[in-house]
Amino acid sequence: MSTPSRGRLRRLAADVLAAVWAGMHSNRALGEHLELHGELSPADRGFVTHVVYGVLRHRLRLDAHIDAAARKPGGLGPRLRDLLRIGTFELLELGHPPHAAISEAKAATRAVVGGGPMAAAVGGILATVAKQAAHRDAELDELPLLDRLERRYSIPRWWAGRWVRTLSPDRAIARAQAIARPPPVEVCVAPHADLETIATTLAERRTHARVVRIEGVPRGLALSAAGDVFYAPEATAGDLWVQSGPSQRVGHVLDPQPGESVLDLCAGRGTKTQQIAALLGGRGRIVAADVDPRRLDDLRDRLAAGRIRRPDGGLEVIVHDATEPVPEPWREAFDAVLVDAPCTGLGEAARHPEVRYRRRFEDLAACQARQRSILTEAAATVRPGGRLVYAVCSTEAEEGPDVLAAFIRDRGDFEVTHTETLQPEDGWSAGFFVARLERRIDAA
Ligand SMILES: C[S@@+](CC[C@H](N)C(=O)[O-])C[C@H]1O[C@@H](n2cnc3c(N)ncnc32)[C@H](O)[C@@H]1O
Repeated sequence: MSTPSRGRLRRLAADVLAAVWAGMHSNRALGEHLELHGELSPADRGFVTHVVYGVLRHRLRLDAHIDAAARKPGGLGPRLRDLLRIGTFELLELGHPPHAAISEAKAATRAVVGGGPMAAAVGGILATVAKQAAHRDAELDELPLLDRLERRYSIPRWWAGRWVRTLSPDRAIARAQAIARPPPVEVCVAPHADLETIATTLAERRTHARVVRIEGVPRGLALSAAGDVFYAPEATAGDLWVQSGPSQRVGHVLDPQPGESVLDLCAGRGTKTQQIAALLGGRGRIVAADVDPRRLDDLRDRLAAGRIRRPDGGLEVIVHDATEPVPEPWREAFDAVLVDAPCTGLGEAARHPEVRYRRRFEDLAACQARQRSILTEAAATVRPGGRLVYAVCSTEAEEGPDVLAAFIRDRGDFEVTHTETLQPEDGWSAGFFVARLERRIDAA
């Protein structure tokens, strides 16, 4: 295995970042770029991944350091800025010695934009960043809360403004710090498998990984490093799958019972479908629907590979736009209906850090309109006495409590029996809102 030439890993990280700024999801951009570099060692791949996510999580703070150190910050092109962000992340968060971070950044700059003057400028800016780092962070820590959230914790201003209005300063900072930390990889262990045995096996097989139970999630394990868990024999056999703790909570709030019929209306790639199927224990029926046929292809692949346990009443996979009225065979047909609604995804800012820069205030209203229409149509599929669970990976009021309140105003035949809001600062790896409603038994 050859050692990558100097600057190459930083250049690769900069390429991934450019793809993310152009609109690609970070995990996809990383996956595609790393696939092109099969010669890289696992450690090098890990480094590139860590740096890309680090820059995404700390972008506004890194820019605050760079802008203070550069003579003409406005003149830095996007490629140079990304190389500077990478170098600054190494200095601030990885504790790399300045001479090493600077020499790698200069080598990457020569490879990306060519020429000595640019590389010298990058070296000069990073040397200043290194010199002023502690002082600059202390300055950012002294800013008023709104500016501190933005510039020290990389929470875009419109979002930070909402936190300032609705959270105590301590909670706002705790949330910002929580979503700046890389979340663990979380898995769900199927009810038929022995949780303790699997936890022990995972810990033994990958000695570097810490394996801990997730509080509030009976079948959840958190791993400090993913390793090859997706390809582990237990995953292939359907004994475990990657699913975050908050996502698992949704399945538990739905609480599917063996023998029940369940509609998973926004099933996507089928992570929660897999959990529902496992909780049914092989008895019952599932219809998994989504508007996106490509996502459903992933679900079908999992089903075909035996990762999802098919219940005895069958598992149908259907392309359906849930904002449209449901077709006849589905009306009042289900014991339990899950609406895992499309949303801003802001609750996933730790795992998908770029979401915070993509979303705008106006998105909340657009998402809410779609969520309300999906929930209204979903209601028609619930039998009297059945239950409806509404979930979003966002803790913005517009996408959770407000959608629920509007629904309840319109639908006197449903009552809310449970709600919960999971927040990153309370130890969850993502922010979620989940509500369970029950349709009155005497509903016409
Ligand atoms: C939060 S994701 C679902 C994740 C999935 N339940 C899981 O656990 O893997 C939301 C899903 O809603 C789907 N969606 C968006 N608009 C929709 C619509 N009008 N009708 C049905 N599904 C829709 C998206 O394709 C996406 O898969």
